[in-house]
Amino acid sequence: MMRLEESGLAGRAVLLTGASGGIGGALGRRLISAGARVAFAAGGRYAEAKLLAEEAWEIGLDAVALEGDLADPLTPERLVQEATDALGPIDVLIPNAGYAPRRIRLAVDTRTWDRTLAVNLRAPFLLAQEVIPAMMARRYGRLVFISSTAAFIGGIVGPHYAASKAGLHGLVHALAPQVAGHGVTVNAVAPALIENTRMLPSLTEGSLSPAVPVGRYGRPEEVADLVMAVLHNGYLTDQVIGLNGGIHPR
Ligand SMILES: NC(=O)c1ccc[n+]([C@@H]2O[C@H](COP(=O)([O-])OP(=O)(O)OC[C@H]3O[C@@H](n4cnc5c(N)ncnc54)[C@H](OP(=O)(O)O)[C@@H]3O)[C@@H](O)[C@H]2O)c1
Repeated sequence: MMRLEESGLAGRAVLLTGASGGIGGALGRRLISAGARVAFAAGGRYAEAKLLAEEAWEIGLDAVALEGDLADPLTPERLVQEATDALGPIDVLIPNAGYAPRRIRLAVDTRTWDRTLAVNLRAPFLLAQEVIPAMMARRYGRLVFISSTAAFIGGIVGPHYAASKAGLHGLVHALAPQVAGHGVTVNAVAPALIENTRMLPSLTEGSLSPAVPVGRYGRPEEVADLVMAVLHNGYLTDQVIGLNGGIHPR
């Protein structure tokens, strides 16, 4: 008989932030295809999250579109409450929303620093804090943080962004061992240069970067496929998995 932690995502309740973005949209569609019941959370672009919810409704799946500014420390608790009210206890948390204002070298003011750390690091922790106790009680849970290769190599956005993403790795390593015995896995996926996102809009053939060994930028669907593989694997935990076209060994 198939054990619960080896079963698929059909019927699982998922909270996906950044659902209005490039990676969030691709991942949201993969989750719908897998039969998950998803709370799609947007920042300012609620209409994009609503579109995903409508796609799920069309094939008879429960879904809800939510919105909120994750720089506000009260938003994570509210989003979890609204998602739980609509779908029941959260089985899968994917804090995918990210804030990446480019700043050159040291030119990062405290407002930019604080907002970046609030959205990219504090909010994922506050969301995890809200959902983990019920996951442990139910002996099933999946957390996948969306990091960045910038956490390893600095990257092109700036020190505030790299530091916020590196902080997620600490969060993975702090949380995963504490919950592993309760059926809850905690991992991060760290992509680089994913086009067709707001962070890296569509690029033409001529602009392909020779700095990416595979010779092209990544696609949101490729990030989504890797996240889905992580979600399906109950033996994979406490890992940061790179997806970067060979830019960096991790
Ligand atoms: N694209 C890349 O090359 C790349 C590389 C490495 C890592 N990543 C990471 O991948 C994740 C997804 O980004 P993406 O590439 O899909 O970029 P994107 O298209 O710009 O999407 C970013 C998402 O984050 C949401 N968001 C931003 N600030 C927010 C806030 N204050 N409150 C709530 N939501 C907020 C946006 O919501 P609204 O638009 O509704 O405001 C949007 O849904 C991010 O964590 C990013 O750091 C991306």
